[in-house]
Amino acid sequence: MSSGLKPRPAVERMAPYTPPTGGRAGKLRLDFNENTVGCSPRVIEFLQRNLTADALTVYPEYVDAMRELAAFFAVAPGELLLSNGTDEAIQVLINTFVDVGDDVLLLKPSYAMYRFYAELAGATVREVEYRPEDLSFPLDEFLAAIRPETRAILVANPNNPTGTGLDLAGVRKILEAAPQAAVLIDEAYFEFCGVTALPLVRQYPNLFVSRTFSKVYGMAAMRCGCLFSSVANVRWMHKAQSPYSVNMLAALAARAAVQDREYVAHYVAEVLAAREMVYAGLRKLGIPFFPSQANFVLFRAGERSIPIRDALRERGVLIRDRSYEIEGCVRVTIGNRAQIERFLTELEALWIR
Ligand SMILES: Cc1ncc(COP(=O)(O)O)c(C=O)c1O
Repeated sequence: MSSGLKPRPAVERMAPYTPPTGGRAGKLRLDFNENTVGCSPRVIEFLQRNLTADALTVYPEYVDAMRELAAFFAVAPGELLLSNGTDEAIQVLINTFVDVGDDVLLLKPSYAMYRFYAELAGATVREVEYRPEDLSFPLDEFLAAIRPETRAILVANPNNPTGTGLDLAGVRKILEAAPQAAVLIDEAYFEFCGVTALPLVRQYPNLFVSRTFSKVYGMAAMRCGCLFSSVANVRWMHKAQSPYSVNMLAALAARAAVQDREYVAHYVAEVLAAREMVYAGLRKLGIPFFPSQANFVLFRAGERSIPIRDALRERGVLIRDRSYEIEGCVRVTIGNRAQIERFLTELEALWIR
């Protein structure tokens, strides 16, 4: 490039991360682990009721959202940081606790934004690989990789894209092995597995837990998440966060979303049933897969991973290629049973030639 300024070295070094951001409308979107049927109708009603010209003139106020979300998650308001999606939660955590050159420990493969924000901050990133045979959490290797100077540890539980999880005993071992590090347990897919470290926040001052409204709640467009930690940690992170990063509609939507527990329970039950259908369908076709604790399944299409993804797209079904990080693997998001029936029918037609 001939013009433009030189960026910070950390930015220059970063590999570009460019997830597809267009052309998904009207397709069966089994590519981003979103809710595939939409949020609770109560969210839409609440937004419509509160969306007035007057309300839009005011910078967002979070008092009601903080009170109601803290009650829902059974924490004190001071233990909760509202964020513009988990992505901002990761960014704020890193900006608060990680400096240029600091050691950050991750897993591989995992959610891309951990590396993204760590590198952006100029940290030194190290990664421990998921066990290749079953993609289980490499706990012993991970514990051995923790150093006294490690400043942050970011773990998705269950992990994306492997779908595998770590039990609470394992989480505790990490927390105890790294008392000096900010340990994030990212629970974006919590509702599909039920394992949570949230109650441990009062016990471990180095623990941070995140939740999102982008997955089971069906509000990825809203960009809203929650980050939990001790009151003292949350206070530091507030200092490092832009004061209005969560917009007023997102805060309203989150309040309404947590009111409809039945809707979430129903969607989770649907996904878990559809996940069994995916397992059965893949077994029938002789396609190896990794059992998942989340709303997606990674399967091994081998050399056909990219052709299968492309052929499904032509038939209006989107899935995500992951072969660049796990050989021959693609990931399918689990929708409801009717959607998964369609996916399996299309896959079978393509697979058996
Ligand atoms: C592990 C994990 N964390 C966080 C996110 C994104 O969450 P948000 O939309 O709240 O930024 C994803 C999305 O794919 C994810 O897989």
